[in-house]
Amino acid sequence: MRLTRRHFLSTALSAGAAAGVPALFSACTASKAGTPRPSSPATQFNPPSQAAFPKGFFWGTATASYQIEGAWKEDGKGESIWDRFTHTPGKIKNGDTGDVACDSYHRCVEDIALMHAMNLNSYRFSISWPRIQPSGSGVVNQKGMDYYRRLVDALLAENIRPFVTLYHWDLPQPLQDAGGWTNRDLVGRFADYVQMVAKALGDRVSDWMIFNEPSVFTYSGYLVGEHAPGHASLVDFLRATHVVNLAQGAGFRALKAARPQARVGTAFNMSACEPATDSEADKLAAERAHAITNVWFLETALHGRYPEAFTFLPETIMRMKSGDMEQMRAPLDFIGINLYVRTIASAAGAFERITNLQDWLYPVKMEGGHQGSMTDIGWEVWPKALSDMIMRITRDYNRPVIEITESGCAYNDGPDASGAIHDNRRTAYHQGYIAGVAQAISEGADVRGYHAWSLLDNFEWAEGYSQRFGLSYVDYSTQKRTIKDSGMWYGKVTAENRLQPV
Ligand code: FCB
Repeated sequence: MRLTRRHFLSTALSAGAAAGVPALFSACTASKAGTPRPSSPATQFNPPSQAAFPKGFFWGTATASYQIEGAWKEDGKGESIWDRFTHTPGKIKNGDTGDVACDSYHRCVEDIALMHAMNLNSYRFSISWPRIQPSGSGVVNQKGMDYYRRLVDALLAENIRPFVTLYHWDLPQPLQDAGGWTNRDLVGRFADYVQMVAKALGDRVSDWMIFNEPSVFTYSGYLVGEHAPGHASLVDFLRATHVVNLAQGAGFRALKAARPQARVGTAFNMSACEPATDSEADKLAAERAHAITNVWFLETALHGRYPEAFTFLPETIMRMKSGDMEQMRAPLDFIGINLYVRTIASAAGAFERITNLQDWLYPVKMEGGHQGSMTDIGWEVWPKALSDMIMRITRDYNRPVIEITESGCAYNDGPDASGAIHDNRRTAYHQGYIAGVAQAISEGADVRGYHAWSLLDNFEWAEGYSQRFGLSYVDYSTQKRTIKDSGMWYGKVTAENRLQPV
């Protein structure tokens, strides 16, 4: 969830608490005297610095429509919740918006040239629902669909796989006005939209993700309120997670009905959850953290049930109906993993449990690790988290096909006098995380691809343009793109299908 990544310790939870937001996923307090010793020496691992990858491995980058496209009201596009949210004063750092972003709507040919220069064979991007259906329902906006058709064709011409996310957070605003993800009617609307896109692009796109990070957009959008639509309600959050689970099942069926051969997954945000100590209570807390962070939208899809995150399942609050468990099922063809950090979990104290409703429901405290170095956004670099997570999913779900759909780091290095960007820390980050993938493959995992977040520096949600994640630098005043040193290094990895020394 976002708390395991973004404002996890510092801002989200304390701000949430100050605003009276339920402290459902409250931050960890300092270590307690007299508690059991740490569960394991959390040493870094020593993966190979050079490793060959399986033939046909997908090397890509990932982006999202709102974060790069701009053109926010062009060619008939409707307003999205992110347009509304960023245009609301006080929501985004420096008042930034995605109105222009990287202007990729007009520069996608240039962007594909960057991919070509980095020898990529996969590009994960998302479709903006309000470009396709400006009001969230009704007939297709042809100009919007044509944009994605041109993009897909241009990718195919360069032998780059179009890897398409159907929903990366930019809901049409009129659907939000009707309750957004707390309203069950959205399930049918979403299925209609999915079918429309599958019919139009499914002759040339084979690989799809239904959602990007369902736990982040429900958590950050409905519980903490730092993302659109900015709600801060425990009830809304719980309801939204259930509607999203139903929509995932319905979206899966809609896609397969239109394109039976399509390969369909979701990009889940994941974080390896470790107990703070070897006590039974902390181990249980780590399992609860895993349930809510990693598999709340996966266990439902693959097994038609909710994992045990809470002390009881709040079915009434979630407005569950009989038959819902079946509706949530979606036998995904692959599991997408977005992973940046690990999570350290410990049990909430007895006092907190009885005095705080949320701690009673979810008696877990979570925080990020602090042993690795920190990126500019404050996330710990811990490559072992990726191999641990891949292996956990591999064991628990019977060796599924896995794609790493995102991993990346914010470092704000800029051009030197010659215009070059020496972002060695980013190269080291990807070297470590790709080595984590190699390690997992050597232990038997079936990983088919790695997508660096991101192709370009771009609009980083609540952080605006203050955090640069790109393998290419964007000068926002001219929109000039420059491949950073990390992108050049990545280009060698992709060309040789082998991890390269830094
Ligand atoms: C992920 C999002 C992506 C980007 C990266 C840094 O949670 O999916 O859009 O913001 O984090």
